[in-house]
Amino acid sequence: MSFEDKVIYQIYPKSFYDSNGDGLGDLRGIIQKIPYLKRLNIDMIWFSPFFVSPQNDNGYDIADYYAIDPRFGTMDDFDELVKKLAENHIDVMLDMVLNHCSTEHPWFQKALAGDEYYQKFFYLRDPKPDGSLPNNWTSKFGGPAWAPFGDTGKYYLHLYDQTQADLDWHNPEVRKELFKMVNFWRDKGVKGFRFDVINVIGKDKDLKDAPENVASKLMYTDKPIVHQYLKELNQSTFGQMPDSITVGEMSSTSIPNSVAYTNKDNHELSMVFTFHHLKVDYKNGQKWTKVPFDFAALKKLLNDWQLGMSQGGGWNALFWNNHDQPWALSRFGDPIHYREKSAEMLATVMHLLRGTPYIYQGEEIGMIDPNYEQISDYVDVETHNAYHELKKHGVSEQDALAIIQAKSRDNSRTPMHWNSGPNAGFTTGTPWLKPKDQERINVAAELDHGEIFSYYQKLIYLRKQLPIIAKGSYQPVDLDHPQVFVYRRDYNGQTLLVISNFYGQPVTYQLPEAFQGQKAETPITNYEQNITEVPNALNLQPYEAIALLV
Ligand code: GLC
Repeated sequence: MSFEDKVIYQIYPKSFYDSNGDGLGDLRGIIQKIPYLKRLNIDMIWFSPFFVSPQNDNGYDIADYYAIDPRFGTMDDFDELVKKLAENHIDVMLDMVLNHCSTEHPWFQKALAGDEYYQKFFYLRDPKPDGSLPNNWTSKFGGPAWAPFGDTGKYYLHLYDQTQADLDWHNPEVRKELFKMVNFWRDKGVKGFRFDVINVIGKDKDLKDAPENVASKLMYTDKPIVHQYLKELNQSTFGQMPDSITVGEMSSTSIPNSVAYTNKDNHELSMVFTFHHLKVDYKNGQKWTKVPFDFAALKKLLNDWQLGMSQGGGWNALFWNNHDQPWALSRFGDPIHYREKSAEMLATVMHLLRGTPYIYQGEEIGMIDPNYEQISDYVDVETHNAYHELKKHGVSEQDALAIIQAKSRDNSRTPMHWNSGPNAGFTTGTPWLKPKDQERINVAAELDHGEIFSYYQKLIYLRKQLPIIAKGSYQPVDLDHPQVFVYRRDYNGQTLLVISNFYGQPVTYQLPEAFQGQKAETPITNYEQNITEVPNALNLQPYEAIALLV
């Protein structure tokens, strides 16, 4: 099986299952839940970082790349986890944060103590002659991208939190250290790697100011040298392992770059995460706003990427959710009136596109945004920065909270709901983030009488049964339809038509003439229609999704 045929599941260890009552999920908790993961029949698990970290950005600030944070367990636990997953035919994908490390990492600490060798690991710069910061770039988490480097008078670059110092990839010693570390995990049986924000590793050496009215991210995103670094990373590490699977997290990337990152001839990565389709509920491109999603834009973006990536021989990771996103179900579905149907519709749309699907923990039971009523219930650093910024700009407390409720990364970080108990069966202690709505939405209830989990099982099963899902080409159908998303996949003389009603109102969808009257099968639908001959029109219920194999 190659990566086209697989389905990958993401675990956010801190929020999956707590085995020792300290309120945080851990590796032994994951081991206990292997039967559940097996039941879903996923092929690989991507684990968000569990390395030693001060946890200022929940583990994306790594202080020791070679050790498991004691909060999450021990190296023995890790080895056992890999072994037990392998016994269940599940491979492991680790999250490699190579753009930056924690300021508590010994490299940074030695640099601070004056060690010149390690000072060259970071972007250290003098202020401008007028005393201002080395350049005008802003941090992705708000504020300037520079912080004072001890009392040296210099500054270090941090594109994310102040405690995440950017590593200077121009320095061959940095690359050597990082590649050695990737190989350490590879040699422990890890087959997959997710590379965090990997398309920002190629800053220009001169770190020029962003021109007026130009976002600073344009100064360091997708620089040509990233392709060179990725080829080197590939050759020096996972490329030596024929069945490795890699995915790059590409922030604000472009189709041509993503084609180049993933076209097999280039020997860079297997696939990329891209985010354009998740910005369709941003007002004027700004995340910290609250507006309904733009359906036409969503379809257009998914369509552009599907076409562009297939034309260029690239490959996409397919996903609605991860640990940085509010739940798609709350954004694009109807979590109140049609929670199950809209969850299934969204899953159908994503899993049947061309690419490798990812499922984020809890998606398979239809978890939704918690809508905490107090800002103090949120933990995420980005969330709190955004809240203060909003208030500083005159947004009322109430409106600011409403925006946070819609956009905070904590939405998807709430603990996994295992049962309807007070802490959702996640912990016997005090959970680090509060569960919400677990009375209704939890694994036990879902397995007992829900329909979302079994729908995901079916989608995963179908990928293994119908080669058209992994291998078929993609073409849009009726792209301008205001309510229905339709596309076709073609392979070996067959067509898979995927038809999804994105709204809570029923609709009659007129099928393209070319298909009318043809013999068909219905491999999957979230309602009851079983089509054996393509009709002229289909009546679609609220959030109905149906795939026809013609
Ligand atoms: C990625 C991670 C996110 C993290 C950031 C900085 O976007 O997914 O959680 O905050 O990188 O490492």
